[in-house]
Amino acid sequence: MRASKGAAQLHEMVRSSAYTIDEWWNPAKPPRQRLPASAYTSEEWFRREREELFAKTWNFVGMLEDVSDPGDYITVECGNAALVVLRDMTGRLRAFHNVCRHRGARLLEGSGNIQRGLISCFYHKWTYNLKGELQLASVPYQQELFPCLDKSLYGLHHAKVATWKNLLFVHPDPGAMSLEEWLAEIPGKLGPFKPNQERLHDPEELVEISDITYRVRANWKIVTENFIDGYHLPLLHSVSLGDGDFMQQRWQPSGRHQAFYRPLKPDIHKDRSYADRDEPMPVIEGIPADYGFSYQWLFPNIALSQTAYTWSTFHVIAVSAGMSLVRTRVRATKPANSAKMNVVDPEKLPSHIVSAKGFNLSADRLEIGPVHALESNNVMLEDIYACEKVQEGMASSVFSVGPLSKWEAPLSFFQSQILDFVPLR
Ligand code: FES
Ligand SMILES: [Fe+2]
Repeated sequence: MRASKGAAQLHEMVRSSAYTIDEWWNPAKPPRQRLPASAYTSEEWFRREREELFAKTWNFVGMLEDVSDPGDYITVECGNAALVVLRDMTGRLRAFHNVCRHRGARLLEGSGNIQRGLISCFYHKWTYNLKGELQLASVPYQQELFPCLDKSLYGLHHAKVATWKNLLFVHPDPGAMSLEEWLAEIPGKLGPFKPNQERLHDPEELVEISDITYRVRANWKIVTENFIDGYHLPLLHSVSLGDGDFMQQRWQPSGRHQAFYRPLKPDIHKDRSYADRDEPMPVIEGIPADYGFSYQWLFPNIALSQTAYTWSTFHVIAVSAGMSLVRTRVRATKPANSAKMNVVDPEKLPSHIVSAKGFNLSADRLEIGPVHALESNNVMLEDIYACEKVQEGMASSVFSVGPLSKWEAPLSFFQSQILDFVPLR
């Protein structure tokens, strides 16, 4: 692993503190709920989010390794914009709207590799090259049926692709602000947080050890707000995250995004909450065993998080007003005895897990059996349970959000970002 900064420079950064604890906190103006209940329950609000938010922001797509070879592609829904991100035959990343220029059919589905470097529409076989051009490819029966067609006018609509570290992002608008500008100060919020930290977390130095997609019967903003809610951490997760010193939690907005850190309790010197129970995971080289936990929430719907053992993405995918998927991908130092990721048979998965693969996973370990989520000692199951119960409560005629605590300021900040895109009316 290479050091990204000198140790002395890192220690100076800890002293100057990447986050401040209280500068954002004003007791005279406590955080408040800004969104109405309908924002979490109505399909009309969800439709506005698809058009006005997700189709107008940078969206997380996946990891660079997902499109490593020429012809590799991933389709992604950015609200009502259907896009495809691909690597062309020269190795360059490109992004297009996944819409045929003839009658609008979706060109590609899911992810995979485009054979022979040509995207051929299934419907009438208009064919594009991986630069999105129609003119150098083909239109069937062109001479007979389209004698005047100017193929140069009917290339695929471009979108904008960019990477940060080995994370892949896409924006439906080719003229959008750069990803660098969108991320604002976040790259400066990655720590370090410990005086004995020799390196920053670097996802490019780690390998993926698990990839699990959960189904949550709750609006994507409830899932988001649960993730960034600092108040529930010592309460709902009193055992499962029992090592954390939540009284010392720090949080700070950064552009439209936000960043969080909490250390371990003073008497705990090695994080046990995230350590693998069955196969002890190695502490990442250069990261202290008492690192604690940090995250950066990239608006609108993706968290990056770090522990002494792991670097993870937590991607909340909005499916409908009342349904979300959460895809969690965890990177770590590669387990010594594991040669290849283990894909778990979907038939053996509990109903809230859509798909799972990982080095150390087995269906048995994911099976919660008759244990209630609140007794599972599993952070994810506890959170899914909480999100689904809040979603149910929001349907009640008497529902309204009560006062928010200091540790729920992240929710208020997140909601204010939503309202910039989807204003109340
Ligand atoms: S819709 Fe694609 S070729 Fe007709
Ligand atoms: Fe939680």
